Amino acid sequence: MISVNNVTLAYGKRVLFDEVNISFVKGNCYGVIGANGAGKSTFIKILSGEIEPNKGTVSITPGERMAVLRQDQFGFDEVSVLHTVMMGHQKMWDLMNEKDALYMKEDFTEADGMKAGEMEHQFGEMGGYTAESDAAQFLNELGVKEEMHQMLMKDIGGNIKVRVLLAQALFGNPDILLLDEPTNNLDVETISWLENFLADYQNIVLVVSHDRHFL
Ligand SMILES: Nc1ncnc2c1ncn2[C@@H]1O[C@H](COP(=O)(O)OP(=O)(O)OP(=O)(O)O)[C@@H](O)[C@H]1O
Ligand SMILES: [Mg+2]
Repeated sequence: MISVNNVTLAYGKRVLFDEVNISFVKGNCYGVIGANGAGKSTFIKILSGEIEPNKGTVSITPGERMAVLRQDQFGFDEVSVLHTVMMGHQKMWDLMNEKDALYMKEDFTEADGMKAGEMEHQFGEMGGYTAESDAAQFLNELGVKEEMHQMLMKDIGGNIKVRVLLAQALFGNPDILLLDEPTNNLDVETISWLENFLADYQNIVLVVSHDRHFL
């Protein structure tokens, strides 16, 4: 669950949110609509923590994971397509790197062994062992062919990039999924794939869209 408590935000004299209280619960897909400039994107950014409200708080159920669709097309230039998707589950990704660094230690002690065991356990619970194949499957479903998976993000076209970033947001079954205008840069095929994906989604989805048909 995400709870928004007494959230207030103003830019100068323009009050976008005044003492907003609302909760979003598991199993629902919420459509956020409103006129241009009403504050939809700002609201999504408040939920994700990218923007701090002037007053009030946003809290999510402890242990739940939030994923956001990135609009930044150049944020992963030096990363491979496959790894970009896996990075969608930040905690799993960080743990994987920490774990690898630990195994690389030259003076690997018994204590390190214990620590590694714990990390492996956690990693397994996060679905780490199937992460690579899960990410590849997502990409394939989205029409990003196998031969592109090892390419760097900077070397692929914009229309493929948006699919990769979509796969990144959806990867690892996030408890809370925030999508701001997801259909903007997508082709019709991918839009219809996303419609089906979201229709079956069991967690919380918040989607901002001007596309009535999509909503
Ligand atoms: N950093 C900022 N400083 C000042 N004003 C801002 C800032 N960010 C957004 N605004 C203003 O806040 C209002 C809400 O912006 P926001 O981008 O959230 O609207 P939106 O509902 O997402 O619009 P659109 O439908 O065009 O995407 C707009 O009037 C915008 O100009
Ligand atoms: Mg917006």
